[in-house]
Amino acid sequence: MRKSLVAGNWKMNGNKASIEGLMDGLLASLNSGSISASESVDILVCPPTVYLSQVAGKAAGSVVKTGVQNVSQFEAGAYTGELSLAMLKDFDCRYALVGHSERRSLFGETDDQVAEKCAAALEAGVTPILCVGESLEQRDAGEALAVVTEQVQVVIKRCGIAAFNTAVIAYEPVWAIGTGRTASPEQAQEVHAAIRAVLHDADAEVAAATRILYGGSVGATNATELFAQRDIDGGLVGGASLKVDDFLAICTAAAAA
Ligand code: PGA
Repeated sequence: MRKSLVAGNWKMNGNKASIEGLMDGLLASLNSGSISASESVDILVCPPTVYLSQVAGKAAGSVVKTGVQNVSQFEAGAYTGELSLAMLKDFDCRYALVGHSERRSLFGETDDQVAEKCAAALEAGVTPILCVGESLEQRDAGEALAVVTEQVQVVIKRCGIAAFNTAVIAYEPVWAIGTGRTASPEQAQEVHAAIRAVLHDADAEVAAATRILYGGSVGATNATELFAQRDIDGGLVGGASLKVDDFLAICTAAAAA
């Protein structure tokens, strides 16, 4: 049985005051026991890195874990603007999104760089959440499954299948991110099953245990039917993770799935 995971990707949003309010709202509900979170769902938030310390401080002792939205594959040195895994660990941060489609499309991250980041994260004891997904053109051309499975295969090749004893995968169709246009539960399940089949080809046990999240306009109203799918193990949530009630509703749906 795979434990659900809901990860909030706050992207480049918020400020000290709004983040304080968001965390207070989340923690008040979670601490009052509205979701038996620790048993049935893992909850993670990925703030803009400059707020990591603020968020980690507030989350300390709660069920909410913290992650970052990107990390460098390099150890240290002349990499202006980058953030190392050792720095993350300094703040007890154990999760990193890797290869989000915005990193791939806006900042030119390649499959190979994404695989290097996964390898570096795993070596450092940080859990990578590997983001994969096809563009609208690729879906329309009937290439969705091929694109996504290739994105996963590159990481298996670089890191080995054992990586997925730890690593999490997030399937996020690019056309569904921030558009309000969610993949239907059937569309999402088809891709999740294809991803699991790729893992299964390499190792059946690992495949059965790997958490595969769905992302792309997940909200309070569609989470339940998405999470009811056999191969969907939670969500990577952008916009709705900035609203306390919506995010909690999504976490509740994952806990109940
Ligand atoms: P969205 O973003 O939920 O706002 O579509 C998801 C993501 O980019 O991770």
